[in-house]
Order: sequence, then structure tokens, then C-alpha cells
Amino acid sequence: MSQLGQPLRAVAARVMQSVENGQSLSQCLPHAMGDVADNERPPLQALCYGTCRWFHRLDGELQARLNKPLRKSNRVVHHLMLVALFQLRFSQQATYAILNETVEACRALDKPHLTGLVNGVLRAAEREGEPPLADEAGRFSHPLWMLEKLRHNWPHDWQAILETNNTQAPMTLRVNALRFSRDDYLQLLSDAGIDAKATLFAPHGIQLTAPVPVDLLPWFSEGAVSVQDEAAQLCTTLMDLAPGQRVLDACAAPGGKTCAILESCGELEEVVAIDESADRLPRVQENLERLDLMATLKQADAADIDQWWDRKPFDRILLDVPCSATGVIRRHPDIKLLRRESDIVPLASIQLGLLESMWQVLAPGGRLVYATCSVFPQENHRIIRRFLKQQDNAALVEPDVLWGRDMETGRQMLPVPESHDGFFYAVLEKPEP
Ligand SMILES: C[S@@+](CC[C@H](N)C(=O)[O-])C[C@H]1O[C@@H](n2cnc3c(N)ncnc32)[C@H](O)[C@@H]1O
Repeated sequence: MSQLGQPLRAVAARVMQSVENGQSLSQCLPHAMGDVADNERPPLQALCYGTCRWFHRLDGELQARLNKPLRKSNRVVHHLMLVALFQLRFSQQATYAILNETVEACRALDKPHLTGLVNGVLRAAEREGEPPLADEAGRFSHPLWMLEKLRHNWPHDWQAILETNNTQAPMTLRVNALRFSRDDYLQLLSDAGIDAKATLFAPHGIQLTAPVPVDLLPWFSEGAVSVQDEAAQLCTTLMDLAPGQRVLDACAAPGGKTCAILESCGELEEVVAIDESADRLPRVQENLERLDLMATLKQADAADIDQWWDRKPFDRILLDVPCSATGVIRRHPDIKLLRRESDIVPLASIQLGLLESMWQVLAPGGRLVYATCSVFPQENHRIIRRFLKQQDNAALVEPDVLWGRDMETGRQMLPVPESHDGFFYAVLEKPEP
């Protein structure tokens, strides 16, 4: 039976359950969108993102309101109540509508015996207001391990990082420099009634005052611009790209940086874009096609160089490694539920392994830019330090830039409200023999 027309909150509760079971919002939301009417898609997205963003705060309150946890088989009703609590605490929607529709969603989830409980919990939540937040995990709405790690790593900044993570990130564009100057595109936006300004550090970046659907952006489908955070755009400013170079983007999907590389230097000899994910690699091709750019795509484990390398060294390598993504929590609040403390050590070992392998395919005189969207030094500064300890033909380049914090081995950007995400960059060169 088609589920189209399912109550919005019932669909949102199922999405939240999938996230709790380890699926990311970008994996499960597109499927869930098929279960609701077209006009309910934006509210479904807002409900799921908002509930993830405030999960730890809402869950603290809900647990305190329940005499005992629901059985595992009824867990979806726990998520349904979280979705409703998110609306009660963070939306302008009328309380009676939230209550009625949540009870209706409980029935649609085939849990009619729990409607009384749902109604009682939400009525009490409405009547009594939000209780004082019991602990820091609730107060900052982050998992405790992440909060403690940030406090340890950033004793002066951890609160600002956590607070910024709970805000909405701005929509930032990268103007395709092969097509338009930034000033010309700003004019096009202004003509279209879209308020925007140039980014501070990224030379082709434009930040919108309010997000808009991409199809309202002038010439979007013709490849005039891409959506990309300012910090991510900065990779090309560190690569020292020049015509004739052979360039490798070693962890490329969905291709944001591959395309930025190709746009920032028109006459590169070749750009090879590798990703090990068969699901994600087609996104690189889609982006290349929209922007009318060309790269050689390979699906491979970049670290296994015998599998894919043709023995022709690369002059430039971008190594945008898989990481905890703790610098982009504003854009992906499900990271708070998905990431585990135990993920970080294995990630660090993958990152160091990738760096060691990529060093083998870098030409003498070549440059490698290491990037993460993490704010943990364990994945950033310490990876580079470990690499430099064991590698004597690697030289650190100190970027001459006005952004980020100097971490000895690279530049760390922390997320900034109404501005860029958290990112780390290090630049290494292989001396000529
Ligand atoms: C941070 S994302 C890359 C984002 C991309 N550079 C961009 O700007 O659009 C990391 C990517 O690395 C890929 N990946 C992870 N391990 C890999 C490996 N061993 N070899 C190649 N790709 C890998 C993941 O599939 C993921 O797409």
C-alpha cells in the first residue's frame, strides 16, 4: 500500500528512528519524502533537522517525563514525542494542532494503545513548560563525549563551538569563475531580488542573507554557481594550481572541491577524482556535467594505489579525508546521533594511512593539501605531526592567509555564526631530490 498521505509526524518519527539506527538524514530523508505530499516536504525536512539539532535537550526532557522507557518495539513513539516536543519548544505552531496531529500520527504508526500516554505527556509538557535542563548535554544539546572532547581540545572556545553548532548555517555559493566574475553574479542576484554579499576570504564566494531553492538562482542549471561553504572553497587558494599540472582529488565525492579545482584553473593537464563509494561517485559526474567540466573518475580505495594508479605522479593532490565532520554539525545535525567516541581512533588511522599512500603518488616538487571538516586535533594537527615524524622528505608549507588559527602544522577554522564552517587545512610539499 502506498504510504503517500501518511501524517507528517509519523513519517518524521520513522526518520528519527532510522537515524538512531545509524542511517544519516541524507540517506533516509529522500525515501521518506516519497511518503508525504509535495507541500509537506519542506516541513518534513525542518522537523527532522530540528529534532536532530535539539535531540539531546528534548530527549532529556522526555526521559524525565516518562515513568519508564517505552519498550523497544514502541521506540518509534518515543521519537514521535520528540518530534512533537521539538514543535512545542521551537515552533510557532498552535499547541492544539501539535497535540491532535501527534495523537493521529500515533494511530497511523499502529500504536493506538499509546495515544493516551502521548496525549498526557504532551499536555503536561505544554502546561508545565520546559523544565530546567538537568545537565550540560541537555543544555548544549550535544552528546556528552563530544562536549567533553571539545572542552578538552578548545578550553576557550568549546561553548561558542557548541552554540554555533545549534544555529542554522548560511547558504553560501561559489561562483564559477570560468563563467562569471563574483561582482557580475552579485548583480544578477540583486536583479533577481536575492540579497547577498561577498564572502570575506574565499575569492569566488557569495553568502546569501536567506537560503533560497537553487532553481531560483540565476543560471544555476547552466552551471553559473554551486552551493559550497566558504571554508570548503578555500582549498583551491592553497593548492597553487597552474596550467599543465596533473591533479588528484583523492576523496572526491560529491565533487564540490573537484569542481572548484577545475573552475579555478582552466588549463590543468588532467584532474583525477577518486572515491571509494559507488553510491557517491555518480554525484561527482552530475556536478561536473552541470558545470560543463571534465575529470577522470575512478571508483577505488585511494590508499590501495596498485588498484588505480597508472604510475604517472601528480603535481597537486587534494586529500579531503573522511572524518568526524564535527565542523559541519550545523549543516548535518544528525552527526550528533550518528558519531561515536569510538569512531575517532579508527578514523585517525584511516586518515594517516591515506596520507602515507598519497605521498607515494605525489611528484617531487609537488604539493599536497590535507583537509578535514573536523574540529578535533586528533584528526588534524596530530595526523600531520605523526606523518612528519615518520616522513623525512616532507616539508610543511605555512600558508600566508588571514583565516583560521595557526596550529603549527596547519590552519584550523572553527565554525562561525552566520559565516563559515569548521575546517582544517595543512599544506605539504615533497622536495625535489
Ligand atoms: C569529506 S568527503 C569528501 C568531500 C568532497 N571532497 C567534496 O568536497 O565534495 C570524504 C569522501 O571520502 C570517501 N572515502 C572514504 N575513504 C576513502 C578511500 N579509502 N578512498 C577513496 N575515497 C574514500 C568517502 O566516500 C567520501 O565521499
